[in-house]
Amino acid sequence: MRNLEGKVGFVTGGASGIGLGMVSAFLGEGMKAVVADYDEAHLNQARSVLAGSNAVHFLRVDVSDRAALKAAADEALAVFGRIHVLCNNAGVGGGGAVDDPDFDDWDRAMGVNLGGVVNGVKIIVPIIKDQGEGGHVVNTASMAGVVPLPGLGAYSAAKYAVRGLSDSLRMSLAPHGIGVSCLFPGATRSALVEVPEEGEEPPATEDGPSPALMHELWAAMRVAMDPLEMGAAVVEAIRENRPHICTHAEFLDEVRERNRAFEAAFPADAQIPEARSRFEATRRALATELLTMPAKD
Ligand SMILES: NC(=O)c1ccc[n+]([C@@H]2O[C@H](COP(=O)([O-])OP(=O)(O)OC[C@H]3O[C@@H](n4cnc5c(N)ncnc54)[C@H](O)[C@@H]3O)[C@@H](O)[C@H]2O)c1
Repeated sequence: MRNLEGKVGFVTGGASGIGLGMVSAFLGEGMKAVVADYDEAHLNQARSVLAGSNAVHFLRVDVSDRAALKAAADEALAVFGRIHVLCNNAGVGGGGAVDDPDFDDWDRAMGVNLGGVVNGVKIIVPIIKDQGEGGHVVNTASMAGVVPLPGLGAYSAAKYAVRGLSDSLRMSLAPHGIGVSCLFPGATRSALVEVPEEGEEPPATEDGPSPALMHELWAAMRVAMDPLEMGAAVVEAIRENRPHICTHAEFLDEVRERNRAFEAAFPADAQIPEARSRFEATRRALATELLTMPAKD
């Protein structure tokens, strides 16, 4: 979507960190923005950061609550008349390791990090489709959805799922001229990870992330990327209809190594029945056609 001026963005988790970076970038492009967040303190802070702009509307919503999200979409339409860009960005830490027997933390984290994205797509994408003017969906995953974070299985599982959901959604929405991008942040300045003063050491946990990993995570967060940079990368990706937005180059080497290891897992000299080869050729041609369709301007 090349022409952003006057378009409306709906940003979940838009009152803090990366979401607020997107909102600021959208306003800078002459767009209108709906800041949808469930944290009243973050909403108040965002109100003061964005004070003076009449192109922004704030609303309180929990993205894991489908009825509330539907009401929020209706409110956005009542205020701005349209939604063109949906950013499913709200996220939380926690959720535990996959083998942690506790279900409650897992369900809570999944309900926001994956469920919130699913709800946003199922509730708001039909509105964008019906308008018939094209549009764009940005789903916030994480580098933890490409290279897993040891001890944070729920977070990584949700973010891997957001990546798969986004790649699939891109094929579904291409015939409607609607683009889809998946955002893979690394350390970015936000309220997601509480970073204590330098010198404080992480506690030892039984099955969570190791103190050594947390020590380095805190250090990385102290020099984290500015969310405004993420916002600018998102704007560029919407304009160019880029499928993936990768902002943190420190991960590239590992991504390459993992891709090579995945390729090496295939048998080198397999005899493939012709029907199986034909199925893959047909699937690939269809996917390529859909994945390379241009979005509406
Ligand atoms: N900051 C990073 O280093 C980093 C790295 C990788 C991925 N991410 C992802 O980026 C996204 C944005 O996080 P952030 O880092 O800006 O953190 P943040 O905490 O600053 O912002 C997230 C916002 O989402 C809101 N939120 C949480 N649960 C919600 C819910 N159920 N309904 C509505 N709003 C809700 C919070 O109130 C908060 O304002 C998340 O999906 C996160 O997983 C962040």
